[in-house]
Amino acid sequence: MKILFTAVAVALVAATAFAAQSIPPNLRETALATFKPLPFTPAVTNNPITPEKIALGKALFFDPRLSSSGVFSCNSCHNLATGGDDNRETSIGHGWQKGQRNAPTVFNSVFNKSQFWDGRAEDLKAQAKGPIQAGVEMANTPHRVVETFKSMPQYVEWFHSAFPEEADPITLENVANALADYEGTLVTPAPFDAFLNGDDTAIGPEEKQGLALFIEKGCSSCHSGVNLGGEGYYPFGLVEKPTADVLPENDKGRFAVTNVPEDSYVFRVPSLRNVAITAPYFHSGKVWDLREAVAIMGTTQLGQELTQIEIDRIVAYLHSLTGKRPEITYPILPTETPTTPRPRS
Ligand code: HEM
Ligand code: HEM
Repeated sequence: MKILFTAVAVALVAATAFAAQSIPPNLRETALATFKPLPFTPAVTNNPITPEKIALGKALFFDPRLSSSGVFSCNSCHNLATGGDDNRETSIGHGWQKGQRNAPTVFNSVFNKSQFWDGRAEDLKAQAKGPIQAGVEMANTPHRVVETFKSMPQYVEWFHSAFPEEADPITLENVANALADYEGTLVTPAPFDAFLNGDDTAIGPEEKQGLALFIEKGCSSCHSGVNLGGEGYYPFGLVEKPTADVLPENDKGRFAVTNVPEDSYVFRVPSLRNVAITAPYFHSGKVWDLREAVAIMGTTQLGQELTQIEIDRIVAYLHSLTGKRPEITYPILPTETPTTPRPRS
């Protein structure tokens, strides 16, 4: 009986608290000052989009022969059937090596102002050349990549129709161009976009209260714009340093890019689109629970102990950023020929 009473009392307190936070009448206008809904067609800078390039980029994204072992494709670590990531703390790559950082989702990455946790690549095209050559990821060389795709007549045809103005289109540069164009199609409109676009019923009262809190508490001072992040750089631990397991000492973030001491432990603010389906969290991938990640942000970035109810509402709002993922048909890839370089271990 006592247990029942306590449960009812807790429920009542929660219900009262739920009702107590009113939803600001001009919530959409306030939100539109900070966020933007997804545009209909994403822009990949300096890289005109064509259907042929997108189709080639899709094949390349799924092709494990882009890696020297023939085992890893982009999709191995950015699985489009899950959240565009690999659901691991840090990725496994060439020779079963463990990388240092958590793999971010590729969904909506076209809207990030720079790529990688430390922003070291200026756009998707510059980014794509990284993993292909990274020793712990695909461990390939530009020469071998070119040799591989030149050895398969179907790829030769696809590269020519994607880059009709070029006499010798099979280059690492064009692999990156096509991959970037394909990634530009990986956008996921979410209920929050429908809300920003004028549909009041797209998100419920708890999500709206969470959105109001997200703005009032100051989360949106860093997680803003079309991707709710992906733009600025901030120290992880602006107010209070996270624990050493969440912020390992050996990864100094942006310092490795700029060599400026103030950039130690500075990271690019990640996008929060689809964050509910891309655990684990942070560049270290050490936090598996979104509620815990939000609480950590409260203490480390805002110097605030968020209440359980506040965390619940913010998390409810973050769920409204889970978008509709594109239907993807697995591509049928060209077959190797006797001249295709053999996989390396
Ligand atoms: C980062 C795409 C292959 C693991 C990224 C990002 C993109 C991307 C767009 C940046 C996202 C952001 O900053 O929000 C690709 C493409 C690939 C590929 C197109 C194929 C050419 C791989 C593979 C692995 C991997 C095979 C795992 C072995 C990672 C990791 C990061 C990352 C760990 C974060 C690294 C850091 O910030 O330092 N990838 N990726 N990727 N990817 Fe990939
Ligand atoms: C990371 C939410 C406030 C900067 C994250 C992540 C979440 C989140 C869920 C993990 C994303 C992922 O791993 O994919 C929030 C919420 C906030 C808040 C709910 C308010 C309570 C802020 C503020 C700043 C900021 C005010 C800037 C001062 C960052 C940075 C990271 C991050 C730099 C990456 C940390 C790393 O892994 O190195 N945020 N955030 N956040 N946020 Fe926030």
